[in-house]
Amino acid sequence: MLEIKNLSFSYHNKEFLKDINLRLERGDFLGILGPNGSGKSTLLKNMLKNLDYKKGEIVVLGKKLKDYELKEFAKISGFMPQHSQLHTALKVIDVLLMGKFVSLKHSFLDYSKQDIDEAKQMAKILKLESFLDRNVLSLSGGEFQRVMLGRALLKKPKILFLDEPTSALDLNYAIELLNLCEDMINTNNISVIAILHDLNLASLFCNKIIFLKDGKIAYSGEVKELFKKEILKEIYDLNCDISYHNDKPYIILTKEKK
Ligand SMILES: Nc1ncnc2c1ncn2[C@@H]1O[C@H](COP(=O)(O)OP(=O)(O)OP(=O)(O)O)[C@@H](O)[C@H]1O
Ligand SMILES: [Mg+2]
Repeated sequence: MLEIKNLSFSYHNKEFLKDINLRLERGDFLGILGPNGSGKSTLLKNMLKNLDYKKGEIVVLGKKLKDYELKEFAKISGFMPQHSQLHTALKVIDVLLMGKFVSLKHSFLDYSKQDIDEAKQMAKILKLESFLDRNVLSLSGGEFQRVMLGRALLKKPKILFLDEPTSALDLNYAIELLNLCEDMINTNNISVIAILHDLNLASLFCNKIIFLKDGKIAYSGEVKELFKKEILKEIYDLNCDISYHNDKPYIILTKEKK
């Protein structure tokens, strides 16, 4: 599905990603974890063609990322950003329909009835039906995140990229959103890559994780092998305990001083 080989990336001649190697298979739910500033969003932006890497290679569905036309790549990828660049007052329904823009046969054609029905159906799934005519800039943080997910899912992507998708969601919506992504994996055989700060949500949903630290992959593997007190101390400088429930590890926070 996606392979990264020896990727390095610099902002203004300073290297922020160093020798990244990664392999994502169909059906994977990959969690990208690591402290603030460790390079998670930078890595995701490289995978999304938003940044232009000079060293190494990213291959998506057997083709080099650099060889994709923007629109061609937009058709196979869905992205839910950490910060939205959306500053224009648009109705929620119009923002959802942006997800259908890439499948228009011609940019001057209008959306079909089917496009509009699918957008409404998505709004229903995400409990956004009553917001369709609202100005998207007037939504709460969590409502807005659900619109961003709806827009990404409406593209029917083969790979779904999520940058801190649950940061503004209450726990119920966080679980619902990640369940929805998991359903997409099971029904449409897609892959999901999600940057997550909530380690317990990562444990619940991810079948693979990487820990980034200072722009390098410090560890990669299954949650079970990597959620260890020593590793979490090394990556986050975090003191915690680990507890098991249904064979999955969960982080128990402690107030222990350093
Ligand atoms: N456009 C830029 N120019 C210069 N430095 C940048 C730029 N964008 C990001 N950086 C720096 O690169 C480093 C990695 O940033 P990045 O946004 O990838 O971190 P992150 O792991 O996503 O952090 P967070 O958890 O806070 O979102 C940071 O030190 C950041 O300040
Ligand atoms: Mg980030």
